[in-house]
Amino acid sequence: MATSLAAVTLGNPVLTASGCAAAGRELAPFLDPAHLGAVVTKSVMLRPRSGRATPRMAETPSGMLNSIGLQGPGIDAFLAHDLPWLAERGARAVVSIAGGSVGEFAEVAQRLVGAPGLALLEVNISCPNVASRGQVFACDPMAAADVVRAVKAVTTVPVFAKLSPDVTDIVAIARSCVDAGADGLSLINTLLGTVIDTDTLRPVLTGITGGLSGPAIRPVAVRCVWQVHAALPGVPILGMGGILTGLDALQFVLAGASAVSVGTAVFHDPSAPTRVLAELRAALAARGFPQLTDAIGLAHREPHR
Ligand SMILES: Cc1cc2nc3c(=O)[nH]c(=O)nc-3n(C[C@H](O)[C@H](O)[C@H](O)COP(=O)(O)O)c2cc1C
Repeated sequence: MATSLAAVTLGNPVLTASGCAAAGRELAPFLDPAHLGAVVTKSVMLRPRSGRATPRMAETPSGMLNSIGLQGPGIDAFLAHDLPWLAERGARAVVSIAGGSVGEFAEVAQRLVGAPGLALLEVNISCPNVASRGQVFACDPMAAADVVRAVKAVTTVPVFAKLSPDVTDIVAIARSCVDAGADGLSLINTLLGTVIDTDTLRPVLTGITGGLSGPAIRPVAVRCVWQVHAALPGVPILGMGGILTGLDALQFVLAGASAVSVGTAVFHDPSAPTRVLAELRAALAARGFPQLTDAIGLAHREPHR
């Protein structure tokens, strides 16, 4: 089940998804974080943030909307409490970083240089650029590339850019990030949605819009992985979006993902990542794959006649 994300070799391809398991502690009663491919931590910013006002979660058919608003302790507390906890348990950490400006991304990345257990940086560019009237970095090829370039300039660990599906051409954004030095891509972040309460006659979420996640978005996510792998076959992809089972994970692998993240599923089944791993292992064996890497991108190949 071993796989690699750029220069990082992982014992298995199942990771948590950013924002769905904090920094791993909450999952510890249900699974050993060291047995996962890696723990992807909640996007951390330079300073502590309280996030958006509640309500900031809403259930939807086959999914949920969240508008947490990047709540977090800030990079100093994260470095003092969260990363050491993961490192002491022998868990690999993929640290997700966010910022309101290119400079903030670079500063957070800089603080993480030499941090214990840090395997890889995931750059969450699905946040508003304060200097550009709040336009989301991930929706503009140049802005996305600026962030990747600035982060790459200060770190030696591989950098994955996490893209938003809310764009006309995800391949254009992917290409721009890779040209700017991204070592790989995380696909996909949530899709923007709104739910209106028909009793109060107002939006359910205080923030009006939220990110849609869960099985409802899986076909969109698999499509994004497919398109990006087809255009940039040499670029490693960490795939995610609605994975509940090993067969869901297998779809992402066949579309071109080298590893997967399990997010929303952990809210109702906190042991989902280990279950998904066991199911994926069984599914690969049942289909005669000697190793996971034989299945990566296989769906793109012409069938044997
Ligand atoms: C409550 C919640 C919080 C999230 N927070 C983050 C975050 O901080 N950074 C990030 O890059 N993605 C965040 N995401 C997006 C997930 O990492 C993932 O990309 C998305 O939910 C799709 O996967 P899933 O359907 O398995 O949840 C969050 C998702 C949820 C549901």
